[in-house]
Amino acid sequence: MKIKLFELRPDEHAALERAASALPEGYSLDATAEPLSASNIDGLAGYEAIVITNKSLLTADIVARLQQLGVRYVSSRCVGFNHIDLPAVKAAGIRVCNTTYPPYGVAEFAIMLMLMALRKCKPAIWRMQVNDYSLEGLLGRELRTMTVGVMGTGRIGCAVIDYLGGFGCKILAYDPYPAQDLAAREGVEYVGLDELYHGSDLITVHVPLMDSTRNIIDAGAIAKMRDGVVLINVSRGELVDTDALIDAVECEKVGALAMDVFEDEGGIYHENRMNDIISNRKMAYLRQFPNVIMTQHMAFYTDAAVQSMVFCGIEGLCDFAKTGHTETELV
Ligand code: COI
Repeated sequence: MKIKLFELRPDEHAALERAASALPEGYSLDATAEPLSASNIDGLAGYEAIVITNKSLLTADIVARLQQLGVRYVSSRCVGFNHIDLPAVKAAGIRVCNTTYPPYGVAEFAIMLMLMALRKCKPAIWRMQVNDYSLEGLLGRELRTMTVGVMGTGRIGCAVIDYLGGFGCKILAYDPYPAQDLAAREGVEYVGLDELYHGSDLITVHVPLMDSTRNIIDAGAIAKMRDGVVLINVSRGELVDTDALIDAVECEKVGALAMDVFEDEGGIYHENRMNDIISNRKMAYLRQFPNVIMTQHMAFYTDAAVQSMVFCGIEGLCDFAKTGHTETELV
């Protein structure tokens, strides 16, 4: 089986070499730094399988061309799958899977953002740079005194809850498919979404982006939250209505915000755009608030996760080819 891996980053080279050398006989793998797009797709003639990640947008057109070219398997080496038109892939008869890298790096990052937001690290660090050592306005809050709402209890949400257990806070959880072991755990209560909004001092979002979850946090949802609520989003920017969020920060309904993701971050995050005119006004506006922390979609970015993304990405294809099945199949 001929495999092509797209969007190869330098930090993935070592893992890719190891994965390639462990491939069974009859498999070959080559890679490019480019995302898959209409301009390079024709080079896939003769390939049966591809590995992509979030910048390769599998639109209906791209999927149709993959089908014509004879590509049978697609593996996306990230957890989120909002860059893939799943119905189109299914209709084309192409098998598609994502990956399951360990959730701990993202969960640790979410905890870090919570603590940074609660302890006002952004203005504190700003002040240090200009010899302002004052404390005024930097009064923090302790997680153990708070109720934390966890939206989404998949692998990442569960890992966040595990870590939060060490802080002694009360935890409210929401998921349409509750995890049985969590439901039985002391200190964690599964509630409806409205109850989570009403009852939480801090809300952390670990929900996949799908049609049903796009803008799940809109003006109506924010209105149900506590005044001064702290919001953390390490999932996808489009889960939140950014205009509503800006309004909520301006009127201090949202007391602090930390986001590792942003609506329309494609082409910006993970690129050096230092000398460019960037046309994402909402991002530039939101970034300037002292109580808003933004990072460049890097919660996943640890040595352990990167290695696992490459290995699992390739493994999913091998499973498809060998057994006709992989645990991370998406449709
Ligand atoms: C994911 O795995 O879903 C991520 O968010 C990381 C990816 C964009 C590289």
